Amino acid sequence: MELKDRIIVALDVDNLEKAKPLVEILSPYVHCFKVGLELLTSVGAPQVVKFIHQAGGQVFFDGKFHDIPNTIAAASRAISRLEVKMFNVHASSGKEAMINAVQNKGNSKLLAVTILTALDEESCNHIYGVSVASKVRQFALDASEAGVDGLVCSPKDLSNLLQDESLKHLMKITPGVRPTWADAQDQKRVFTPREAILAGATSLVIGRPITRPPREIKTPVEAIRRILDEISSI
Ligand code: C5P
Repeated sequence: MELKDRIIVALDVDNLEKAKPLVEILSPYVHCFKVGLELLTSVGAPQVVKFIHQAGGQVFFDGKFHDIPNTIAAASRAISRLEVKMFNVHASSGKEAMINAVQNKGNSKLLAVTILTALDEESCNHIYGVSVASKVRQFALDASEAGVDGLVCSPKDLSNLLQDESLKHLMKITPGVRPTWADAQDQKRVFTPREAILAGATSLVIGRPITRPPREIKTPVEAIRRILDEISSI
């Protein structure tokens, strides 16, 4: 896998004027940019995707679909027309919904979101009645049986998931990553880029350490260079 595919930059901004300089300066270093609910809702999905494609980037459409199978099928068909590199559905939508997404994804990769990293043991137990480890595993197995291309999970879930032979072929995309020089901010129990790749992550989603780097790092370009340097020898 190319080094440029190892990092996906999260563009957590609310308009294209803020996204534009980031895509322009970071495109020589990464292929793919993640756009989430903030930008998609503020600007409109087709406009956001077109803008990144015109700037030469690929798109991870982080819409986290969670709906009935018929609606998931229709939304996936609409996404397939945008020709994004990847998009995602919540595994908690159920296997039938994920199968519908697989059948309608076109050339895009489909990722299943397991347990949101913001949910701790207590919240997971409250919502699902079981531990994070067992729910993540069950969601991952459902997603694999539905035929998805990959999972979105915390780096700390990787050792659990990689024990299962039937999950080894799936891409594992992990947020919750912080270089040692960056603030953890609201991310809990973070892994460094090197740790996450060594734990088995396919690609890392990183936002603020790159888009709003600490003062001593100065620029997004310096931040991405340092991160690529950290993982280049693995
Ligand atoms: O700025 P930071 O590196 O924390 O950004 C991480 C990105 O990954 C954000 O866009 C966030 O919404 C997303 N994300 C996450 N945890 C998840 C799923 C997505 O942090 N479980």
